[in-house]
Amino acid sequence: MKKITDLQGSFELYNGVKMPYLGLGTYKSENNTEVVNAVQSALDFGYRHIDTASAYKNEEGVGKGIKKSFVAREDVFVVSKVWNADQGYESTLKAFEATLEQLDLDYLDLYLIHWPVKGKYKETWRALEKLYHDKRIRAIGVSNFLKHHLVDLMESSEIIPMVNQMEFHPYLTSQELVDYCVSKEIQFEAWSPFMQGKLFQLDICKELSEKYKKSAAQIILRWNLQKGIVTIPKSSKSERIISNADVFDFELSADEVFQLDSLNRDERIGPDPDNFNF
Ligand SMILES: NC(=O)c1ccc[n+]([C@@H]2O[C@H](COP(=O)([O-])OP(=O)(O)OC[C@H]3O[C@@H](n4cnc5c(N)ncnc54)[C@H](OP(=O)(O)O)[C@@H]3O)[C@@H](O)[C@H]2O)c1
Repeated sequence: MKKITDLQGSFELYNGVKMPYLGLGTYKSENNTEVVNAVQSALDFGYRHIDTASAYKNEEGVGKGIKKSFVAREDVFVVSKVWNADQGYESTLKAFEATLEQLDLDYLDLYLIHWPVKGKYKETWRALEKLYHDKRIRAIGVSNFLKHHLVDLMESSEIIPMVNQMEFHPYLTSQELVDYCVSKEIQFEAWSPFMQGKLFQLDICKELSEKYKKSAAQIILRWNLQKGIVTIPKSSKSERIISNADVFDFELSADEVFQLDSLNRDERIGPDPDNFNF
């Protein structure tokens, strides 16, 4: 098991960059005081990783939240993603500049291809490789890439993605893909770790909640971390942002991790990466 210490702890990517393993998700956090306050309170509380995307239309507010916090830019791991309509070589380079402008930052820690758009993602990746070589991004990766997308991408790429951000929760554990990513040193990252709130009532979560005096949310996040998976729960409520980070004073047994793994039903809340039309 990878070592898990505290909210500022990280997993190391294969290029040596440290990625804090618990970050704040911002999908559906509005580009106004909602996202500004969420980011600011997360950072001031101790989070060091913020996940956004141009598609969320809140990069501007995320950037403001970072500036309003007491944390220095270089101590925050900032992630954004290139949207599908912007994929292609030149258009990705342009989208990256627009993202930096919105965030009002001069580099990103991690930039991801948001979805594997057929016929486009290889050119998009070439742009990410250039930005990485130009030291505009500390790490590059993908999102929503199944094994065949990764294999196809890596056939012609110079750089192996450092991260794959996927829907991941007890109903969608994708163990084969996780194992494949581990074998290639691609850090696996969970989006919608709570299945957007649908999993809090699971019997096993209730049982473990009682045993450890922890919320179902905390049980699920601890399970992510013990599996070596980076996780980015979203909340715009500061009390939840704080409680979601209170996962460093207990440990699930191997059997409990296995019980959560066994809930898998290959069930998604988001689109299927093999069948999306946006
Ligand atoms: N790469 C991709 O394609 C992709 C897709 C989806 C998401 N993501 C990223 O992953 C992040 C997380 O995924 P997500 O936002 O879809 O879903 P999620 O984190 O599984 O769930 C978020 C929902 O849970 C609620 N919540 C948070 N903490 C809670 C708690 N302690 N108790 C009860 N409810 C709680 C939030 O409400 P409140 O805000 O009201 O607290 C929100 O409704 C996103 O924000 C985004 O950054 C990436």
